[in-house]
Amino acid sequence: MKKIVVLSGAGISAESGLKTFRDDNGLWEGHNVMEVASPIAWENNRELVLEFYNQRRRQLLEVEPNAAHRALVALEEKYEVQIITQNVDDLHERAGSSNVLHLHGELLKARSTFDENLVMDWRNDIKSGDFCEHHMQLRPHIVWFGEAVPMFQPAAEHCAMADVLIIVGTSMQVYPAAGLVDFVPQGCPMYFIDPKPNIREHSSLHIISKKAAEGVPQVVERLLSQ
Ligand code: APR
Repeated sequence: MKKIVVLSGAGISAESGLKTFRDDNGLWEGHNVMEVASPIAWENNRELVLEFYNQRRRQLLEVEPNAAHRALVALEEKYEVQIITQNVDDLHERAGSSNVLHLHGELLKARSTFDENLVMDWRNDIKSGDFCEHHMQLRPHIVWFGEAVPMFQPAAEHCAMADVLIIVGTSMQVYPAAGLVDFVPQGCPMYFIDPKPNIREHSSLHIISKKAAEGVPQVVERLLSQ
């Protein structure tokens, strides 16, 4: 079975009603990302960071996967499919994708500030005073700017095994995620679906300048008919 690797970013969830990071004058829901998504912000303004992610979590629980998330599930009829997402939402999982790797963490999980491997499902607000079993504060299970990306290595290994790469809804500005394209085998066909595609052209790249809910089902249909 051929392997398809999908690298998704915020744009795939835009039509579900979740804002992207960089489409709105560089502000994310009214905030500079460093103000809410960095270890310094956590040290200096914990309440703001907790409330920001609490709002994101509540909002996530009100939205649904869209046609792009759903179309990727259909690919599993014919291919081994590995989703690598930069998104912290669970819309790929809710659509039904079997293999989803989250590069930047997950909104519906919390983790201990004492032991980063102590991660738990968490659907409610995280509040000051919510502790892990070691009596240490819980934090959002999110990779903030300046933090290590522990899932990068397994993601790169998947890319190295890809027969086809689909990239959807990412500005390709954040590393190391954007560097994953360099791990796919030479000549591997790539599809890039984004209304404002930001990628270097090359011979095996097909650019589809469309929104995800329209462009992804088209690419999936093409791949299923091959
Ligand atoms: N369909 C497809 N793509 C879309 C749509 C849509 N409906 N709407 C917007 N886009 C595209 C934009 O053109 C842009 O290229 O989605 C991309 C969103 O880019 P970013 O906001 O930079 O999101 P992303 O690339 O996922 O950001 C990477 O940055 O802040 C960090 O950790 C955060 O994972 C995130 C990382």
